[in-house]
Amino acid sequence: MLAVIKLGGSVVTEKTRPYTLREDNINLFADKTRQLYNENIEVVIVHGGGSFGHPTAAKYSLGSSEFSRIKAYGFAETRYWMSYLNLKIIEELLSRGVPAISVQTSAIAQTRNRQLHRFNTEVVNAFLERMLVPVLYGDAVIDVTYGVAILSGDDIAAYLAQELRADVLVYLIGSGGVYDRPPGRPDARLLREIRPSGALPQTSESALDVTGGLRHKLSCAFSAARSGVRVAIGGLTYLREMVLGQDAPYTRVLPE
Ligand SMILES: Nc1ncnc2c1ncn2[C@@H]1O[C@H](COP(=O)(O)OP(=O)(O)O)[C@@H](O)[C@H]1O
Ligand SMILES: [Mg+2]
Repeated sequence: MLAVIKLGGSVVTEKTRPYTLREDNINLFADKTRQLYNENIEVVIVHGGGSFGHPTAAKYSLGSSEFSRIKAYGFAETRYWMSYLNLKIIEELLSRGVPAISVQTSAIAQTRNRQLHRFNTEVVNAFLERMLVPVLYGDAVIDVTYGVAILSGDDIAAYLAQELRADVLVYLIGSGGVYDRPPGRPDARLLREIRPSGALPQTSESALDVTGGLRHKLSCAFSAARSGVRVAIGGLTYLREMVLGQDAPYTRVLPE
């Protein structure tokens, strides 16, 4: 069984506090991943940028269309912070005996018009065949049209799940699932199912996510679901249930 797990930036970092880790969550994620790995479930991890990626990318307008010297610096700085966050996650996995291996995004992926254009899936597959746990991440990449662009972890996870024919794609997010309205509101209710043909939830998109927040995540999730992958969005607590397809409080993403 193969599971692609997108570990949201909202889970591993404090999104409202620049460059702040949520170490308790990183530890819990590593514990749960060890359990899955020990049961011979193949795992690919893709993490987001949270408060390490988004503020740096926004500061240098990496999503805008003109390339410049200052943007080159911003690209390098974004890469630095993403590597830093990546190492923190890898460290916890390694210390639990999980052979986690970092895969540097801009070395294997490029975009065109900000859409995924080239992606070396083979290298990820080769790591899996060797019982390694590849850990990728959303990052600044070469864009053949605009110079550079941000490729989100949400896109990478959906793409890989489809290409590798994963059994399941799990999006872990800080709010624990998709609610009918922003989860801070007192009357917000967890949606147990969501489908592209149904009503979309109300969202409160924050400026803290340069790649489109929950809305963009949902469009990635729907496209994977349509290609036949089982997709779930939820919190760390129920990671195992989501991977195994067991009933628990999380959101199932249906294809239509
Ligand atoms: N209706 C909603 N249901 C769930 N989460 C929502 C909703 N509206 C806004 N959000 C926010 O979207 C966040 C998930 O999207 P995003 O910030 O892009 O997460 P990530 O860092 O995992 O990519 C949640 O943690 C929550 O704060
Ligand atoms: Mg996001």
